[in-house]
Amino acid sequence: MAEYNERVAAVTTDIIHAVRDVLTRHGVDHAEYGAAVLWIRGLVEAGEVPMFLDNFFEQTVEQATYAGKPGSEGTVRGPYYLPGAPLLTDQPFVIPMRDDEPGDPMVLGGLVVDLDGKPLAGALVDLWHAGNDGTYSGFVGDAPPTNLRARLYTDGDGRFQIRTIRPSPYQIPTGGPTGRYLEMIGRHAWRPAHFHLRLSADGFDPLTTQLYFRGGPWLGDERGHGDVSEAVKESLKIEVTEDRDEEVAARYGLSIPFHSAHYTFTLRPVV
Ligand code: BEZ
Ligand code: FE
Repeated sequence: MAEYNERVAAVTTDIIHAVRDVLTRHGVDHAEYGAAVLWIRGLVEAGEVPMFLDNFFEQTVEQATYAGKPGSEGTVRGPYYLPGAPLLTDQPFVIPMRDDEPGDPMVLGGLVVDLDGKPLAGALVDLWHAGNDGTYSGFVGDAPPTNLRARLYTDGDGRFQIRTIRPSPYQIPTGGPTGRYLEMIGRHAWRPAHFHLRLSADGFDPLTTQLYFRGGPWLGDERGHGDVSEAVKESLKIEVTEDRDEEVAARYGLSIPFHSAHYTFTLRPVV
């Protein structure tokens, strides 16, 4: 027997009433109701429920939780996070990748600070992103499940630097019920290219966020071409530079110029 839960009762009763209002307003008939039930069954069978919910609702929950709070903006975690990514300890940090990993080499640098701008040494950075083909290891394709996933700690100055590849834009799955639904409502399935990061430090609220590439496609800069997940925020767009730093190039064995970008993450203390 489950115990009465006031919160569950309050929220879900409202959801049920909101859905009933919509069904009544649009005069949804029994045949349409049957088609919807079948479609939801297909969503479950295809294993698309977490992805569908993250795509349509996580940004709302994220905003409701964090909007207006100080520090760097977060955004959705999405369904492709895997806990326990390899912890990198040997400098220079290189994200786990295959010998022939396709994609433009890129160096991502970061600084983690508190609300006063004081660097946070020993903050944990969890980084994961799609490959050049737009897929996430452990979900699609035959790359090892740790591919393009890493954890590392910031140094004594609150900084980190890691060599990876530049991720590509990708479509959320198009071949199943989510894709069919997007087609029926006339929407594309694209997400702009992004890094996913989760930053945490003792005494601070963990920050789950994404970094997007300024000027890239699907950011929503052109009308009608916005992110399918509606998770882009202006403050999360990074500038990718053609870097000519010889020391950094030598550190990672890269030819000049190479792509690099930098972001300062501001964490807020737990209150
Ligand atoms: C993602 O950014 O990985 C993502 C977010 C929502 C739905 C699908 C993917
Ligand atoms: Fe993603």
